[in-house]
Amino acid sequence: MDSYKKLPPEQIHILVADDDKSIRETLQEAMQHVGYRCSIASNGREALTILEREPVDVIITDIMMPHLDGIELTKIVKKKYDTDIIMMTGFVKEYTYSEIIDLGVSDFLEKPVSIKELIIRLKRVLRERAILSEQKKFEFIVNTAKELIALVAKDYTYEVVNTAYCQIQKKSKEEVIGQKIFNIWGEDIFKESLKKHFDLCFTGTEVHDEQSIPSSSREPRYFNVAYYPYSSDGKSISHAIVVSHDISERKRAEEQLRLTMDHLRNAMEAIIQTLALTVEARDPYTAGHQKRVADLAVAIAQHMHLAEDQINGIAMGGAIHDIGKIAIPAEILSKPTKLTEVEFSLIKVHTQAGYDILKDINFPWPIARMVFEHHERMDGSGYPNGIIGNNILIDSKILAVADVVEAISSHRPYRPALGIDAALEMISSKSGACYDVDVVKTCLMLFNEKKFRFT
Ligand SMILES: [Fe+2]
Repeated sequence: MDSYKKLPPEQIHILVADDDKSIRETLQEAMQHVGYRCSIASNGREALTILEREPVDVIITDIMMPHLDGIELTKIVKKKYDTDIIMMTGFVKEYTYSEIIDLGVSDFLEKPVSIKELIIRLKRVLRERAILSEQKKFEFIVNTAKELIALVAKDYTYEVVNTAYCQIQKKSKEEVIGQKIFNIWGEDIFKESLKKHFDLCFTGTEVHDEQSIPSSSREPRYFNVAYYPYSSDGKSISHAIVVSHDISERKRAEEQLRLTMDHLRNAMEAIIQTLALTVEARDPYTAGHQKRVADLAVAIAQHMHLAEDQINGIAMGGAIHDIGKIAIPAEILSKPTKLTEVEFSLIKVHTQAGYDILKDINFPWPIARMVFEHHERMDGSGYPNGIIGNNILIDSKILAVADVVEAISSHRPYRPALGIDAALEMISSKSGACYDVDVVKTCLMLFNEKKFRFT
């Protein structure tokens, strides 16, 4: 199959220039018989007038003509127009054949011209013209592409490179083509990051990679590089076609986004710490409780292999899980004797109060829900809603265990510290009933095997 687009004959414009009326009319008739559009001129000057008016694909011209002969016509046409020329030579005394070809003539025929022969030659010229036109289009596409495109042979030699490729190297095509990759990029880059991709590509595998390229400006440039295997004979891989797409802008935007996210995360952590301090300022007896709960909850979550992002959320939730105590009268929080039933029911309000404070903040984690659920129990015996089993978030179940272990093991206004053994004994005895089995198991393992301690 031809790899070029054949024009229909009626779109092909031929111009016959000959001072012999009978010859030009005979040739015009022959051209029109094939289907081509054909103009005629009796000399070079007339031919140029037609060319100025409309494009001509091929001029078939005589040499000896009045006013402007075929040689002068050829010189002007080759300078100004994209038109092929077939020359009909009669008495070539002043010019040798090679001189005629050197003028840029595509073919020549000796007079008297055989129509059959002329049409065969003309079709060949038109075919080459179509192929060349197709090539020019491809070259235009390849050279205007922003991607860096190169064709590299199996011995790592550049055979084709586009304009973008040369621009990044600050070299001309002549300086790159024929060179080995390592001569252009340097031995180190070639050995460390290019060779393996080319070698894999030469086995017939398409390879994709991200590559940074040192640049004259301070920041390196980043490229998405694709290596496509290419076979010049259709049988075995002979080349790699390398297409590199500049992703520096995207990389910079990603980096900027990451910095912004870090900044926001730091700001959020600072806000959460401030919230934690706010509640602890009113409740000095539980100062540090929230941080210690957060530390234990994070350790449990890590050993349960929860996702890093989820663990970050648990850390935040732990740090402010008692935020709702801000709504409880300070004298109840620090009451040195056992709470009455009414007072205890007031304390219980802190989960709902905490939820109400946080529910409209758009955290990337379910922090308001963790705060709401941290006193819920597996069997529904918790508060405020008596939620059962897996309706409670795993994040909240972890906080519940960390909260109770810290509370029992620490000093409280109304009782001395009961110690970690009593705390572990309690969660152990209520594992499965009040507390999630896996969370309790992990918590026990942390204290008994990993020597976890509150700081
Ligand atoms: Fe609480």
